[in-house]
Amino acid sequence: MPEPFFITTPIYYVNARPHLGHAYTTIVADVAARFNTMRGRQTFFLTGTDEHGDKIVHAAEKEGLTPKAYVDRISDLFRKLWPELNISNDRFVRTTDPAHMALVNRILQRIYDAGDIYFAEYTGLYCVGCERFYTERELVDGKCPDHQTSPEEISESNYFFKMSRYQQWLIDHIRANPDFIRPKRYRNEVLAFLREPLEDLCISRPKTRLQWGITLPFDEKYVTYVWFDALLNYVSALGYPDGDLFGTFWPAAQHIVAKDILKPHGIYWPIMLKAAGIPLYRHLNVHGYWNIDAGKMSKSIGNVVEPLEMIKVYGLDAFRFFLIRDMAFGLDSDFSESSLVQRINADLANDLGNLFSRVLAMTHKYFGGRIPAPDPETTPETTSETAFDIAPMARKTIDAFETAFDTFAFHKGVMAIWELIAQMNRYVDTMAPWELAKKDATRPQLKIVIYNLLEGLRIVAGLIYPVMPDTAFTMIRHLGIDPEAKTGHPFYNLPGLRKWGAIPSGLQLPKSIALFPRIETRAEDKPAGRSTITGTDTPSAVPPIKPEITMEDFARVDLRVATVVRAEAIPRARKLLKLELDTGGKRTVVAGIATRYKPEDLEGKQLIVVANLKPAKLMGVLSEGMILAAVNKKNVTLAGLDEPVPPGTPLS
Ligand code: ME8
Repeated sequence: MPEPFFITTPIYYVNARPHLGHAYTTIVADVAARFNTMRGRQTFFLTGTDEHGDKIVHAAEKEGLTPKAYVDRISDLFRKLWPELNISNDRFVRTTDPAHMALVNRILQRIYDAGDIYFAEYTGLYCVGCERFYTERELVDGKCPDHQTSPEEISESNYFFKMSRYQQWLIDHIRANPDFIRPKRYRNEVLAFLREPLEDLCISRPKTRLQWGITLPFDEKYVTYVWFDALLNYVSALGYPDGDLFGTFWPAAQHIVAKDILKPHGIYWPIMLKAAGIPLYRHLNVHGYWNIDAGKMSKSIGNVVEPLEMIKVYGLDAFRFFLIRDMAFGLDSDFSESSLVQRINADLANDLGNLFSRVLAMTHKYFGGRIPAPDPETTPETTSETAFDIAPMARKTIDAFETAFDTFAFHKGVMAIWELIAQMNRYVDTMAPWELAKKDATRPQLKIVIYNLLEGLRIVAGLIYPVMPDTAFTMIRHLGIDPEAKTGHPFYNLPGLRKWGAIPSGLQLPKSIALFPRIETRAEDKPAGRSTITGTDTPSAVPPIKPEITMEDFARVDLRVATVVRAEAIPRARKLLKLELDTGGKRTVVAGIATRYKPEDLEGKQLIVVANLKPAKLMGVLSEGMILAAVNKKNVTLAGLDEPVPPGTPLS
């Protein structure tokens, strides 16, 4: 029986509406949960809201509401958002839940009884605006970074948690468990922090300045510091210490957070667990920040991205795909609608969408929509140059996908799937089913090629399921399989995906559909998800129309459809790519598109080439033609075709 899997997001503060950052972390957790379900693991996925503390009191005051009425309202916004994003959480925890509050009391009392909490007078630098103490290190030029005012030195008696006692133990634990905090850069950051003496943590606030919190079990004049309260959600939600959930899932616990809350999760939390006698979590997975046009996302700048607005315009799966594909887990990434549109058009509409619709269309055209039965005696005929088969490629892809998703390198896993899609597109072009259909009356070769492609699509559908569950279902349905029939389903589990040949011959397929329509960008369209945007593709002033030509003039230009066989960068030429094209025969073209397209994005793509242009040498490479593209000041967009056609087809 495979090991269970427990995944958590941070519980979000209810002082503001959910935005892109919250959506990202929660989608990542959802992807991890779905992926682990596919591996046959029993999973538990937890998210929720963090509802105590002065931030919340201030936000409630601004709205003219009591803290309770306010937290109920905003927590509800989070809870209702998640189903819209296809989030499959098993529990939604709130720190105002009575069961959670009771557990916080219990743990505080336990640590207090063990002698790890003491009462002391504290003199520190207090910011009245933030209603909190700052350490010297946190100040910027001696001032509060939020209010730009000098903090006052005040003395206050409070309760402290003896974190310092556990410093060496924590260092040893992190050293002995290299992937306790991952990726590595964040592990190193925590270890660097632990090189300095660790201060004890002030875990109380006097009720004279904050009432909205959990009263300390050993002194009713104080409430608990919000982090001490919030972190315990991860065990209170599993019913600790009673019930089966804790016993089943806690040993496999993995948290996901962004780098902003590394310290509470990498330092306070393991020490709290140790002091309370609870085993530690297994992994802390830390991701970077989404920035907007290279800057911070913030309410005051007015560039906050609203997830619901995004999915209304671009569709849920496209949004989920973009977030997973465009952020290397652990690093910061820049969000812009123009890059979202580019991803949708290139990866979803073009690479995946075209492959899917062309394979289904060919199944209809050549086999009346019935999955052909390949003769086991026949092997695909290939020349040495085109000798490749989909089954071994698919196997390699599944391995790469599993390793990447298991280690939270989701973007790499998605790239591996898209590599398979590119190879399948190339397979169509090199096997040229339209030629095979002409050749042979019983079509043994054509049967193999179409069967292999359909089987490859079944595997692609399974692999994209964690990231794009709806699209995976649509694909599977169009491959004649009922996605609702879950037991032993070859689509829901990795062992099933690994079994080549699981798609049954003879199934009648429904008509093909466009999975992702291309998004046409029009300059006058206002961006959807936020109030300001820069970096959209606004064309520069339209150049004047050139002098008139005759039909004969135009007919002298020989435009042909070209399929990109291989693309590579040209050393020392920042803007140029060398493209090996199939235009009926082989040719090489140098194109100035490297600022916009990566070589791996191009392989298998169909372009339009001026085929009779006089060859010219560019950076030492002989270019035999020119690619058509729309060019404005900032951007290059390749001209393409609606439907795949045989390479070399003339345009008129
Ligand atoms: O810190 N990019 O809640 P919070 C990526 N209540 N992720 C982002 C992001 C961005 N620009 N902005 C926010 C709290 N996030 C505490 C947590 S846990 C016991 C208590 C995501 O509402 C990211 O996951 O400020 C980050 O860690 C979290 O939201 C912070 O949420």
